[in-house]
Amino acid sequence: MADEQQVTAVGNEVSASFLAAKRLSDETLTRLDANPGAFTMLTGDRPTGRLHLGHYFGSIRERVAMQNRGVNTNIIIADYQVITDRDTTEHIRDNVLNLVLDYLAAGIDPTKTMIFTHSAVPAENQLMLPFLSLVTEAELHRNPTVKSEMEASGHALTGLLLTYPVHQACDILFCKANVVPIGKDNLPHVEITRTIARRFNERYAAKHPVFPEPAAILSDAPEIPGLDGRKMSKSYGNSIMLGATAEETAKLIRKSPTDSERRITFDPVARPQVSALLTTAGLVTGRDPKDIAEEIGNAGAGALKKYVIENVNEFLAPHRERRTELAKDMDSIRDILNDGNRRANAIAERTLDEVREAMGMKY
Ligand code: TRP
Repeated sequence: MADEQQVTAVGNEVSASFLAAKRLSDETLTRLDANPGAFTMLTGDRPTGRLHLGHYFGSIRERVAMQNRGVNTNIIIADYQVITDRDTTEHIRDNVLNLVLDYLAAGIDPTKTMIFTHSAVPAENQLMLPFLSLVTEAELHRNPTVKSEMEASGHALTGLLLTYPVHQACDILFCKANVVPIGKDNLPHVEITRTIARRFNERYAAKHPVFPEPAAILSDAPEIPGLDGRKMSKSYGNSIMLGATAEETAKLIRKSPTDSERRITFDPVARPQVSALLTTAGLVTGRDPKDIAEEIGNAGAGALKKYVIENVNEFLAPHRERRTELAKDMDSIRDILNDGNRRANAIAERTLDEVREAMGMKY
């Protein structure tokens, strides 16, 4: 419902394609429930910083659930995507290793889920050449997410930013993923992936299709606002990091802005800041934010913050404990990543070989 409203505001064309994607997502999940072993999931993150509570509820939790249901699960740490809209790779190694720490602490099991980086898998990147031939410049320019990322970056459009959705198609198709959990902003990239898979098969592999047409999986989890009611963003300093200490978390929540009305009520439109705190509390306790508001009532923002601090820290305590334990042995973390990279290379080589075969490039 909320999704429909939001999408209608952007335009009917977007709305129709969003609703079609949502329908495909729901249908695919029904089939996946019946036979999880028949599905290959690929999704991933840009290593631009640390994971926060929004990532946990929006995606990490679902990845762990798919892994544990027996889906063949793969997570790409999209290091080349970092330089689509910024000029530096400062801290990239640290960010990559910290992502691995958070995945493992959250329940990703590296014997079941392959974790790997773009930069370590040359054969995956090589798919970019045939794939680029399957899309037009006009199609690339139409991508609404690329457009908004270019505007937000304040830079001129680079060749990589314009073409990274095709690179994302390489991420998805090299391992023949058929389910791709993503947020709405990544839908155009899955759309182009489907187009590329279809065109490749039509052009080069009509008899024995090489690639599946993957379905985007859109989560039903509510989008978590940042503590100040704005979008969660590193630059706003309004997100609760999974790896922060309990003290850092308490400090962040204590200084988050509220309003002058004493009585606590849940009203995301009129009271976005108080409601963001309530939404956060609701997620970590599994309670309805309205009930929490009622319970706190006239005790005011101080009592609300105390409640949020206690419950967020209690929820994250086991994650943080596991994370601290894992971080004592960073060599093992690097080994896990290197092992994922080795496995990804073997899969990418095999797919690239099928592509060469289909294109008549075996000499
Ligand atoms: N673009 C994704 C993001 O916004 C990260 C990503 C890279 C990804 N490659 C992917 C997601 C492939 C799904 C599938 O963080």
